[in-house]
Amino acid sequence: MPTWRDEIPTSGSVELPPDPRALDGLGRNHSLETAVADLVDNSIDAGASNVLIRFVRVEGRLRALYVVDNGHGIPESKIDSAMTVGGRRQYGSSDLGKFGLGLKAASFSQARSLTVLSKAFGSRAVGRRWLLKPDRRGFHCDVVSTEFADDEFERRWGIAEMDTGTVVRWDDVTGFPATSDDGRVERFISSAASALRTHLGLVFHRIIEAARVTIEIDVEDVDIDSPGPRIPVEAINPFGYARSGNAAYPKNLTARVGDLEIRFACHIWSGRSSLPQFRLPGGAESRQGIYFYRRGRLLQAGGGWHGMRPMDRRLQLARVAVEIDDDVLRLFTMNPEKSKVNVGPEFTQLAEHSKAEDGTTFHDYLEAAEETYTDSRKRSHERRKMAPLGKGIAPELRRAIEREVPFDEDLEPIDIRWKPFPNEDFFAIDREARALWLNERYRPEARVARRSVNDAPLLKALLYLVAENLFHGEYLGARDRDNIALYQEILTAAAKSDQP
Ligand SMILES: Nc1ncnc2c1ncn2[C@@H]1O[C@H](COP(=O)(O)OP(=O)(O)OP(=O)(O)O)[C@@H](O)[C@H]1O
Ligand SMILES: [Mg+2]
Repeated sequence: MPTWRDEIPTSGSVELPPDPRALDGLGRNHSLETAVADLVDNSIDAGASNVLIRFVRVEGRLRALYVVDNGHGIPESKIDSAMTVGGRRQYGSSDLGKFGLGLKAASFSQARSLTVLSKAFGSRAVGRRWLLKPDRRGFHCDVVSTEFADDEFERRWGIAEMDTGTVVRWDDVTGFPATSDDGRVERFISSAASALRTHLGLVFHRIIEAARVTIEIDVEDVDIDSPGPRIPVEAINPFGYARSGNAAYPKNLTARVGDLEIRFACHIWSGRSSLPQFRLPGGAESRQGIYFYRRGRLLQAGGGWHGMRPMDRRLQLARVAVEIDDDVLRLFTMNPEKSKVNVGPEFTQLAEHSKAEDGTTFHDYLEAAEETYTDSRKRSHERRKMAPLGKGIAPELRRAIEREVPFDEDLEPIDIRWKPFPNEDFFAIDREARALWLNERYRPEARVARRSVNDAPLLKALLYLVAENLFHGEYLGARDRDNIALYQEILTAAAKSDQP
């Protein structure tokens, strides 16, 4: 039996260029929003202050998607390498680019045609187009006419200071509905725009918060003269709680490997929240875990503990930020779509050996997060049941109260509303009508141009908390009556002194 050999003997070589159809396989893990994020990466790398994502409708049908920026643009000498699959360049220490693939992979995952028009300082616009054809035989990229490149560049993008910049255009987008039916197209746009807002808001939240870039989305119907309203992408900070769930947190735990230091910024949310930055797509429970950032861009938004612990309902308040900048990068690999980070076994060990200055370990942290969750559940179970809310409550206030307060379903809801009183009293309790009436004469009208039944949420919230218990039970006790008299005195005096 031949023995195993270290060296592999060869006798010459053959040239095997990839089949051009290999392009079809690029970016298969992309969705529309991760693909657009890849283009936005490039705009940010180009120093753009504004990025516009535009859907274009022609005769009702969605025909193209644009990502337009006012970055430094691509000079003619660099456009071909920019269009090359795997065409890397020299990357600076804050660049998001890494593989030389993003633009092409993201675009081919969504569209059959990618056109790039760009204008760098002191030069005319240049353009190239890649067409994905089933019969393609070779890597021929089309050179777009200069006139057309100029025209596209000069279209009304509504972006300030666009002396230089880049227009990326996708045609034949595979995911677009193949119909001009208004309802279907509108529904598609609205769900795509909302997925884009959430994904981009999350991925670029630090960059948006630092005011480095403004990202907007709009729809242009070419049969109508002006583009529709622009929707801004707002930052969604997954660590953006109002109050930490545990006063001792956030805490930084660090671990060292050789001369590398890796830091785990460990956060605990304070109970289940309805804030969008808590309820991320997929639900908060599935967003526990490690949030990896590279150069200010969020690569992966939670989704697990990488071998340290399985996902657990009781850990849903625990989120950890980890920065993977260059020195520690070798511990990780990110997928080319930049939407997922893989860690080696070394990472798990590091996390398990990490410590805060006060000695807190990762295990202690997870325990604290679990405790915060159990406590917050207990608190809401132990809360006294309150009468449900009727009319007069602003929807946001109603949601906030419903989140915190267990309602007593046996009680009729209470309305909190204004009406004219025959006297100067501030409020009246009408247990029969299940209403907490407020005297119209104290209604703060100056500040509310259009008065709505759901006005004055702060005032109503306070009154609800103070007076809700007066709607319980068969009759009012002596103590209740005394309290009503007390509130009446004080609130009426306060309301009167507040009058102009
Ligand atoms: N909006 C843009 N403005 C200026 N230059 C751009 C823009 N988009 C792409 N480029 C140029 O094209 C090159 C190729 O982009 P591509 O996204 O394919 O790769 P990359 O950004 O270098 O790396 P990665 O694969 O990590 O995204 C970029 O390096 C950049 O030089
Ligand atoms: Mg890129």
